[in-house]
Amino acid sequence: LKIVSVVGARPNFMKIAPFVRAIEDANKGNGAGIDHILVHTGQHYDDSMSKAFFDALNIPEADINLGIGSGTHAEQVGHTMIAFEKVVRQEKPDWVVVVGDVNATCACSITAKKQHVRLAHIEAGLRSGDMTMPEEVNRLVTDRLSDLLFTPDRLSGDNLRREGVAADKIRFVGNIMIDTLEAQRHKAEELRVADIVGCNRMEGQGAKADFGEQDIFSLLTLHRPSNVDDPKILGEIVDFLTDELARDMPLLWTVHPRTEKQLKAFGLWDKVVAARNVVTLRPLGYHQLLRLNMGAALVLTDSGGLQEECCVLGTPCLTLRWNTERPVTLREQGGASVLVGNDVRRIREACREMLERGRVPSRPELWDGKTAPRIVEVIVEAGGI
Ligand code: UD1
Repeated sequence: LKIVSVVGARPNFMKIAPFVRAIEDANKGNGAGIDHILVHTGQHYDDSMSKAFFDALNIPEADINLGIGSGTHAEQVGHTMIAFEKVVRQEKPDWVVVVGDVNATCACSITAKKQHVRLAHIEAGLRSGDMTMPEEVNRLVTDRLSDLLFTPDRLSGDNLRREGVAADKIRFVGNIMIDTLEAQRHKAEELRVADIVGCNRMEGQGAKADFGEQDIFSLLTLHRPSNVDDPKILGEIVDFLTDELARDMPLLWTVHPRTEKQLKAFGLWDKVVAARNVVTLRPLGYHQLLRLNMGAALVLTDSGGLQEECCVLGTPCLTLRWNTERPVTLREQGGASVLVGNDVRRIREACREMLERGRVPSRPELWDGKTAPRIVEVIVEAGGI
């Protein structure tokens, strides 16, 4: 049985690590005889966005790196398809396995199907209903083409059935990212918040007070085009963070390269750097961010993965979006997050409510750290051509 699996961008790495491990275990334990080739499209290429995660999560170096890099969506998807087609033709896999919803996921799904190779999608069925979100387009295309759709929760299965996907293609297996969280949390627990802050502060913040281990803090990540590509929206968010939120407690902001670029382009960077209680950090490693999440009084984020991690860790989470493809993480579904969009009044109110609520962990069905072996078992059972 030959499998080619694909990663491209940061959120993919946490999802592929347990899958790679489960294949190794199946080969050792049951003599499954799986020939596995890992392809990195190269969409994310900075060490801090890619190599750091391979190292931290013990993912073996990719067998093939397509070296695609940044670009417009059409450039990324187009270049990936051209390069990945050669891989598929040469390797002739029985299955291509894709994870998540980034451009690499979509590009390799289309390529696989055009080469008549069976396609499996891990994290299938998530729907935000927001077609302006590039990931929603990627999800729809990938799921429509997939032969096996591995869903993280029951709502995702309902979405797929509503769209007419045959029931026998849909397998409810749980959330693979939680496999990584459960395997790695002990390592995160060993880290000190003050050390993480000390080692990862960005330049130009020498004047700011040192961050103490006992300090209460909030944690911010921001990178969605809907939040960072419009100067007015990003400006309002920055005003709120610097003038209000950071007045009450230090704000640790781990800055995505895309966001740094936009803050600088819109003339907002100096304000962020000058704000006394805002500490900007370079993109963090997996364990570092997990440790900050474990210690934060509040998380503000537009990341999908963080919403899920907050749910399991119980960290009060303000999701800076108007919709989510992960409703299972919302407070009304038992999770720890609320949708606040980028409306400052709403953010302000939710901050108060969620700080009062405090840390309330919850564990959706099958988010048990054993998703990857379930997936490998299904693929082995489905077999080769
Ligand atoms: C991508 C994913 C998004 C995911 C996010 C996590 C798509 C459509 N989007 O968005 O779903 O949540 O990754 O990070 O696939 N850059 C660097 N170094 C890098 C990578 C990017 O500096 O290693 C900068 C470049 O200026 C680039 C920009 O970030 O143009 C955006 O990168 P890109 O991969 O296009 O999208 P993300 O915003 O990272």
